[in-house]
Amino acid sequence: MIGILGAGSLGRLWAALLPQDQVAFLPRPDADPAPALLSYSFESIQGSQRSLALPWLQQPDDLSLLLVTTKAGDTLTALQHWLPKIPESVPIVLFQNGLGSQQAVADTSPQRPILAASTTEGANRPDPNRLVHAGSGETWVGALTPRARPELPGVVAQLATTGLVVHAEDQILVRLWQKLVVNAGINPFTAILDCPNGDILANDFFQRHIDPLCREIAGLMAAEGIGDPTAGELRQRIETVARNTARNTSSMRGDILNRRTTEIDFINGYLVQLGQRLDIPTPVNQLLTDRVKQLSPHKESEEFPDGQSPFEDLHPHRG
Ligand SMILES: NC(=O)c1ccc[n+]([C@@H]2O[C@H](COP(=O)([O-])OP(=O)(O)OC[C@H]3O[C@@H](n4cnc5c(N)ncnc54)[C@H](OP(=O)(O)O)[C@@H]3O)[C@@H](O)[C@H]2O)c1
Repeated sequence: MIGILGAGSLGRLWAALLPQDQVAFLPRPDADPAPALLSYSFESIQGSQRSLALPWLQQPDDLSLLLVTTKAGDTLTALQHWLPKIPESVPIVLFQNGLGSQQAVADTSPQRPILAASTTEGANRPDPNRLVHAGSGETWVGALTPRARPELPGVVAQLATTGLVVHAEDQILVRLWQKLVVNAGINPFTAILDCPNGDILANDFFQRHIDPLCREIAGLMAAEGIGDPTAGELRQRIETVARNTARNTSSMRGDILNRRTTEIDFINGYLVQLGQRLDIPTPVNQLLTDRVKQLSPHKESEEFPDGQSPFEDLHPHRG
């Protein structure tokens, strides 16, 4: 049985595409009474629809694989509830964006086969019980702990039964960094400016900060031994993705709009923390982290009780 911890957009996507008699969700510990089935409709990338009813697993004794599809900030807590009940031989694949949460899990359980995945598949839930596979992409999976290395081919084979494109990745940290660069250069700007990805490019705030941001990231990557890209190359990569996804709403902007906690601590916030460890200043990452945090629901109501946004000056062209 393949278990899925985190029954949100990405978890429901993998669940919908894996063999239906071999997949189940792990409930939240506070789910009371624990329901028997999770029902939802699935809209495929081609637009066809089907209804699913998948079990909530109460006893994870016969798991062959665990996919963790919680948000980065929930991952360690969610896993800590289940780890004592899951045999140490079961491979665990972490699907979180950003960096930091994966290392926290691997550090907690270095003896387990822990893997990380980086995916460009896109899924969302326009209604709570409707899952849309909105964008097709590719998924790379690699070992985080030594014990995961021999498991990698089997894990990739199990994930590939979905029909999605899944690759084994020897350099999964490099792959996660490549996505982190793009997320760090697009997501906070879209959240702060409250605009789709493409609209950041011409904005003064983006223009002012993108070069120093890329210099900070290039310095951190060089210090960490993650390739040696120039700041110019990073800017080009960020702007290309922003142009290619011009009408998309980033997950960070979506989280702010839906009053959910963002993953900023694992994107620009991760880069700030890494800078502190390496003694490399990261003022632009700090600025972006602070501003996104100020937009989060509790902060906003605490600090701006009259509903005034501190970022009005960033929208000179908004009608
Ligand atoms: N969606 C995508 O297309 C996509 C693509 C690439 C990468 N990712 C990454 O994948 C991760 C998940 O994204 P998502 O869009 O699927 O987020 P999501 O829709 O918010 O799903 C996260 C799920 O985790 C559940 N959860 C939180 N704490 C839990 C706990 N302690 N125990 C069990 N379940 C818990 C949440 O439950 P509640 O609903 O009850 O809060 C929610 O259903 C993120 O790191 C994201 O960046 C997503």
